[in-house]
Amino acid sequence: MIKILFVCTGNICRSPMAEGILREKLRKIKIPAEVDSCGFESFHVGDPPDARAQEVARNRGIDLSGHRARLFTTADFEKFDYIYAMDSSHFTNIMKLAGSSADKAKVDYMLNLLYPGQNLGVTDPWYHQLKAFEQVYLQLDEACDRFVDQILARSNQKK
Ligand code: 4NP
Repeated sequence: MIKILFVCTGNICRSPMAEGILREKLRKIKIPAEVDSCGFESFHVGDPPDARAQEVARNRGIDLSGHRARLFTTADFEKFDYIYAMDSSHFTNIMKLAGSSADKAKVDYMLNLLYPGQNLGVTDPWYHQLKAFEQVYLQLDEACDRFVDQILARSNQKK
């Protein structure tokens, strides 16, 4: 079972979309996985994803309504194999909490799946219109495809 965590600021826009997208992709190809998301700001803890994030995902057959926002904790280093930060603020915050080089090795920028080594951030759509959520959704979808490619390539190497 692979365990993946996505991290953003409020855990109501970017990371819940990534969570829903990747969970669905892994489910379709029957790869056992635990996919979760969390954030670093407490404003929305306990809330469902933003209505715009839910709408964009729902239009593509993905239901985000069951998620509730929560904060990142150091226990997440124990639980997850892969931790993806949406931008440099999350990456820096996660790295500050890492207790070992093994913890640090689990952490990367989401967009390094698409643009390796560039440490680019996923734009925060919160202050923007639905169109921005759609653009972010498509970018996350593409990044999740690359993640799945990497997992499949690794499992083929083991065979
Ligand atoms: P997210 O977007 O980090 O993608 O969930 C945000 C949601 C809420 C806030 C900031 C970013 N906020 O400041 O409330």
